[in-house]
Amino acid sequence: MEQNELKQLVGNEAVKYIEDGMIVGLGSGSTIRYMVDALGKRVAEEGLHITAVATSKFTANQAANLGIEVKNLDDVDRIDLTIDGADEISDDFQGIKGGGAAHLWEKIVAINSDKNMWIVDESKLVHQLGVFPLPLEVIPFGSTHVLEKLDKLGYAPTFRFDENKQHVMTDESNYIIDLHLQKIEDPFALAQILDSIVGVVEHGLFLNICDKVIVGTQNGPKVLE
Ligand code: 5RP
Repeated sequence: MEQNELKQLVGNEAVKYIEDGMIVGLGSGSTIRYMVDALGKRVAEEGLHITAVATSKFTANQAANLGIEVKNLDDVDRIDLTIDGADEISDDFQGIKGGGAAHLWEKIVAINSDKNMWIVDESKLVHQLGVFPLPLEVIPFGSTHVLEKLDKLGYAPTFRFDENKQHVMTDESNYIIDLHLQKIEDPFALAQILDSIVGVVEHGLFLNICDKVIVGTQNGPKVLE
């Protein structure tokens, strides 16, 4: 199976965990697109009724177009289960997210969820985080100075640009800086440093958030918890 087939496999598997009446957090990214398609199918074919909270405008539109009820996070008391993708997951379930520039909303939704499930193809599992560039969402005002600061700290930062050489903008109209670290020895220490930099809204280290991982392998979906 190719990578996209593995993504679809875990997307289809993940929706089996969604029960009638649940409030469900919907992540972002290509794997989640498959999952939302499969959820839309259950809503249409089985009459499943759920309320969704989306982690990006893209996912919110996709879900609404499939007839899934989408609410704002502030209009629900809590979320039963959030299903999201990830860019890297270490052996102890720490993760890097934000490859799709959505990690700010993703993290806000995740920390307001009773359970968090990540769905990935097997290429996302790593022993140590850091090969995937670590995304930071930064406020545009003064962002070149934030970049300089990160450079002095040795984090090899780059702004993320689109194909037209324009800044990639998040759903909150902020910029993305990617840190090319290659390896992260201590994700908790790094998270503390990044949290302290004024202008950085949120980093893509998701620590002690994930409860369950569904991995797409050549032998089918595998659950890790
Ligand atoms: C978006 C994310 C995505 O979940 C992550 O980038 C994985 O994406 P994909 O499923 O396309 O590989 O964090 O900000």
